[in-house]
Amino acid sequence: MALPTLQAALGGLADAAELLELDGRVVYVNPAFERLTGHDAGGLVGRHISDVHEAVSVERAAASWSGRVDAKSSSGGALAFDGSYSVVSGDDGAPRWVLGLLRDVTRQLHEERALRQSEELYRQIFHSNQAIKLLVDPSTGLIEDANLAACDFYGYTPEELRGLHIDRINTLPRERLDQALLVARQSGSRTFRFQHRRKSGELREVEVFTGGVEVGGRYLLLSIVHDVTERVRAEAQLARAQRMDSLGRLAGGVAHDFNNLLFVVLGEARIVLRGLPEDDPLRAEVERIRDAATRASELTRHLLLFARGGDVTPEPSDVHKTLRGVASLVSSTLGHDVRLSIEAPAGVRPVAYIATAQLEQALVNLIINAREAMPHGGRIVARLRVVSDPDVEHQRLRPGDYAELEIVDDGVGMPKEIVAHVFEPFFTTKGPEHGTGLGLAITYGIVHRAGGAISVESEVGVGTTFRVWLPLLDGLVPDDTPRGDAGSTGSGERAVRAPTIASLT
Ligand SMILES: Nc1ncnc2c1ncn2[C@@H]1O[C@H](COP(=O)(O)OP(=O)(O)OP(=O)(O)O)[C@@H](O)[C@H]1O
Ligand SMILES: [Mg+2]
Repeated sequence: MALPTLQAALGGLADAAELLELDGRVVYVNPAFERLTGHDAGGLVGRHISDVHEAVSVERAAASWSGRVDAKSSSGGALAFDGSYSVVSGDDGAPRWVLGLLRDVTRQLHEERALRQSEELYRQIFHSNQAIKLLVDPSTGLIEDANLAACDFYGYTPEELRGLHIDRINTLPRERLDQALLVARQSGSRTFRFQHRRKSGELREVEVFTGGVEVGGRYLLLSIVHDVTERVRAEAQLARAQRMDSLGRLAGGVAHDFNNLLFVVLGEARIVLRGLPEDDPLRAEVERIRDAATRASELTRHLLLFARGGDVTPEPSDVHKTLRGVASLVSSTLGHDVRLSIEAPAGVRPVAYIATAQLEQALVNLIINAREAMPHGGRIVARLRVVSDPDVEHQRLRPGDYAELEIVDDGVGMPKEIVAHVFEPFFTTKGPEHGTGLGLAITYGIVHRAGGAISVESEVGVGTTFRVWLPLLDGLVPDDTPRGDAGSTGSGERAVRAPTIASLT
């Protein structure tokens, strides 16, 4: 082929073209080449092409090589081409030139690199982080991606989480969930409070911050999830403590005034009775007034006790001894079908700073409640042990040694809705004739004033466990009760031995 014909053909191409001697020296470059590389033809002709890019050998050109060609522009910038080479024969039919056609792919390359970098950045931000993150498609509600922290938190594998509908983890009813998604989608960024379910079924309170992100041309929601379960529980605990406190004050105020009125009623009833002859038919009525007023006055005394804790001064009280005393006191009233047993380590006697009468009252309330929860009989276990730095759910206790008292029954138990209210004054399920609903409120007040805590666990049909913690005075004092227990040394050591089980029926 003649050179001018070739040049004319290459001149109009949009792609760069280079015509080289078989040894790589430049014969001709087209205007597109000049434009794309910045090198001008005049300066380039006669020079070796390796000044612009690595030369492609004749052998490869003869085999129609094509591939990436990295070149340098006249200003030193990096350029990338898709090159395809061939050998052009001269008029005599013998190989004469090497022809390279070069398509500029510099832009695509930059874009690919930028994409790779942003993907890398996304992976780093999304995955390598402690924060729980989910990427959700708001139009379908499906989880597109989840980081490892999210997998740990929810208990699913990454594969399980991807493609899962968020209604599997969010406890909202479907239509409210769809509304929330819509809100999140429309408002760009937003914070929600939800309840999320782990794979195990456990529920957690979460705060979810969502923001819109564009991924691969799609609008998705990036959710960052904070587990706020502990905070929510602590807040609820605080609110309850405050409510109990104000209820206590209120009850105290009412009880005080009420007691004064009752005093008048009782006094007047007595005077009337005294003035009535023995056989007066009105006597029975007035006696009933007197008895009702006496009961009412007893009730207000309880109320005052709840409100102020009575005017009893605390003293060092032997928890074990008090428990035994209460047990023998109530055992006769429990009935033949209820067994009460005490389990306590031998050899130690935890001493708490609390009025013995109050501790007795707290224990009686718990045991009587247990009894009343067992209409067909059963077993009550009062378990006493000494624990250090107890970790009571959502109640702050000063570190130290505590007497831990468990009153366990296998009675009817309570559903969650009832458990939530048992410590409130006047909360009763027993009807006005049978319960005042003050027993546990008083117990709660007594325990808290002694610097302790009380908790309850219950399951319907299985039974109930009340736990009371009382801070101990300077550890423990030696057990001086004579006992045939060979392991008892009577020294004040803190060794906790096998429990002694005393059974009182
Ligand atoms: N061991 C228990 N098992 C099942 N339910 C219980 C138990 N202890 C308390 N309860 C529930 O808690 C409620 C409140 O108890 P609380 O002792 O405060 O009042 P009460 O027993 O109803 O009345 P009161 O003790 O003033 O006579 C009870 O009515 C009962 O529903
Ligand atoms: Mg009670």
